[in-house]
Amino acid sequence: MDLFEYQARDLFAKHGVPVLGGLVAETPAEARAAAEKLGGRVVVKAQVKVGGRGKAGGVKLAETAEEAEKLAEQILGMDIKGHTVRRVMLAQTADIETEFYCSFLLDRTNRTFLAMATTQGGMDVEQVAAETPHLLAKIPVDANVGCDAAKAAEIVQAAGFPAEVAPDVEAVLQKLWTVFREEDATLVEVNPLVKTTEGVIMALDGKVSLDENADFRHADHEALVDKSAVDPLEQKAKEKNLNYVKLDGEIGIIGNGAGLVMSTLDVVAYAGEAHGGVKPANFLDIGGGASAEVMANGLDIILGDPAVKSVFVNVFGGITACDAVANGIVQAIALLEGQGQTVNKPLVVRLDGNNAEEGRRILNDANLSVVEMVDTMDGAAARVAELAAR
Ligand SMILES: Nc1ncnc2c1ncn2[C@@H]1O[C@H](COP(=O)(O)OP(=O)(O)OP(=O)(O)O)[C@@H](O)[C@H]1O
Ligand SMILES: [Mg+2]
Repeated sequence: MDLFEYQARDLFAKHGVPVLGGLVAETPAEARAAAEKLGGRVVVKAQVKVGGRGKAGGVKLAETAEEAEKLAEQILGMDIKGHTVRRVMLAQTADIETEFYCSFLLDRTNRTFLAMATTQGGMDVEQVAAETPHLLAKIPVDANVGCDAAKAAEIVQAAGFPAEVAPDVEAVLQKLWTVFREEDATLVEVNPLVKTTEGVIMALDGKVSLDENADFRHADHEALVDKSAVDPLEQKAKEKNLNYVKLDGEIGIIGNGAGLVMSTLDVVAYAGEAHGGVKPANFLDIGGGASAEVMANGLDIILGDPAVKSVFVNVFGGITACDAVANGIVQAIALLEGQGQTVNKPLVVRLDGNNAEEGRRILNDANLSVVEMVDTMDGAAARVAELAAR
């Protein structure tokens, strides 16, 4: 989960990383009040989860609270690379002497953590990385050791920070590592990390991504979720404990087992090419014990997606045999119709594996007009794509 800058700022403050005071506002009037609280002179900053806000006109200096209100009015509602600005952060200002850059991230390719740092920070850091990569130090960080004093010194030296800022930058690096480790982040980035004209080192902008797999360790991270950005179908699926991801196609997909569902997405996308480019509308893994209730919950979510034109139920019977899944489908449709839903989108079902014959017999006997059975995965994918394209 990516955080907004103001949330990153709060986490930095919690772990002792030096930051400036900041407050969030959703209206120009709130922005004015916040600027007054912060002392009048503030930077008004668009809060969107995308880089390059400054260049897009989403970061502006206001000399007074009144001006902050006017700037907030301009920035709120602005579109930055497809992200609408719904909040601004009002931040106290720093008199910047130098802008540096530093980050910690999970380096999956090299199976380690990585620190990156350069003295050429600021809004053009991407260009620095692309054109003068030797100025961007990249130092692996051992998960068992972390960024201790020695590692911080190594990073500072490799990036060539001036001697007079080295001790403070090293201290900040160690605190940023604490944020990274204690909050279970996959990215902690500061750009710019500044030296002010008074010689103070502080973080003026922060990007943090948290590892959702560690949510169980962080009850407080739930509050950081941007509810307005959550897809309503994904939200509903989460409440029902389903592994569901919304995609942008037309063919609903249900399968048992993540690997089977992943390959189903590929096969359906391939089959869709022959039918006007129809694509999978979602990923949904109903797992091993596909009870009628789980099947009903899954179907309910998929049929509730207005983009879905047809549904592919792809099941390979294992410990939960095909007859149980077939009964699940029959009962799920009855359950949904009992709740007043009309199930009228075509379902293409492929049953294979343990007790496939019995499963097919159950579906045949149920005589459901929306259900069609196809024996092979490729055949079923072609049929469901054809139905979606109609
Ligand atoms: N509180 C502040 N006081 C003074 N100057 C600031 C402050 N915050 C930002 N700036 C200046 O504005 C520039 C852009 O701000 P910031 O880094 O937050 O946005 P950005 O880099 O454009 O956004 P992103 O990092 O998301 O691409 C900074 O490099 C810095 O020069
Ligand atoms: Mg920045």
